[in-house]
Amino acid sequence: MSSGKFIYSLRNSLCNVKRLLTTKEHNYVKSNLIIQSLRRVSNSSIYKNKKENTFTQEDGVQYTHFGYEKVAENIKSEKVHDVFKNVADSYDLMNDLMSAGTHRLWKEYFVKCLNLKSGMKILDMAGGTGDIAFKMLDHAPSSEPTIDIVISDINQAMLDVGKKRACKTKILDFFSEFKWVCADAESLPFEDESFDLYTIAFGIRNTTHIDKVLDEAYRVLKPGGRFSCLEFSNVSNPLIRSIYDTYSFQVIPVMGELFASDWKSYQYLVESIRQFPDQEAFSNLIYNAGFSNVTYHNLTFGVVSIHDGFKL
Ligand SMILES: C[S@@+](CC[C@H](N)C(=O)[O-])C[C@H]1O[C@@H](n2cnc3c(N)ncnc32)[C@H](O)[C@@H]1O
Repeated sequence: MSSGKFIYSLRNSLCNVKRLLTTKEHNYVKSNLIIQSLRRVSNSSIYKNKKENTFTQEDGVQYTHFGYEKVAENIKSEKVHDVFKNVADSYDLMNDLMSAGTHRLWKEYFVKCLNLKSGMKILDMAGGTGDIAFKMLDHAPSSEPTIDIVISDINQAMLDVGKKRACKTKILDFFSEFKWVCADAESLPFEDESFDLYTIAFGIRNTTHIDKVLDEAYRVLKPGGRFSCLEFSNVSNPLIRSIYDTYSFQVIPVMGELFASDWKSYQYLVESIRQFPDQEAFSNLIYNAGFSNVTYHNLTFGVVSIHDGFKL
């Protein structure tokens, strides 16, 4: 189905929903919001695969991208911060809805591949609400000493949701407490050579300077330490890519509006994925930061990929 037809049928269905709901005022308002959102979809930059990672300088101001928007470099992190502050409470639910639960399988597989060993010191950067760290506990060896996990994120709101989760599930009863540290991946408050493993899942594409993040990862890892990254990537099969693009640009922001009343953050999410370097380009960045044995492998046709590198 073409994108035009898809929008047309989606809009028709929602118009029908609107008609059914007009008897209740609050539902009427909600459905109007959806219709407005759909109008925005048809006017928006669907299917663009802009990979403008070139950083331009104009009048002494350095520019970068925030999704498909061009912004001054010094305000990108503020905008990203606002996105995650806005989505923090609905983040876990939205992840399940948007990926139909697949993000759990990706994360599970990612953590399984880490081959965790007893006594490891781990930094889970851009750890958000702690999804990766919680899964690490499931895969941790039962022998003493237990693994030691620092969850770090630039956004306190995301960490706070994670802390509440940890208290609720009481998952930490048998393990030493996680440490939650609010910090920027581009400038870490940790000493050189303090971790055996650095993980970052769905975080690095949100940062302004990927090279600085990688340099910092390299610095805080011990010799022999491992960098492992799970991130959205590039789908090369044209058919799968077109289905994926249709879903991303036409369904995800609508879901954002419906379930989290936040179109913009979810529009940013899909655009930021398209701006992130593809598998080869990202591997080169990891290699340029000094890592050895740099490898990647794709999951779900390259919708996401796992990149690894070692500090030798
Ligand atoms: C999509 S969430 C991923 C959270 C978690 N890793 C997961 O897989 O569920 C991206 C996270 O990156 C964080 N982030 C963005 N820029 C960052 C930066 N410069 N330093 C540290 N964290 C950052 C955001 O605050 C957000 O929590």
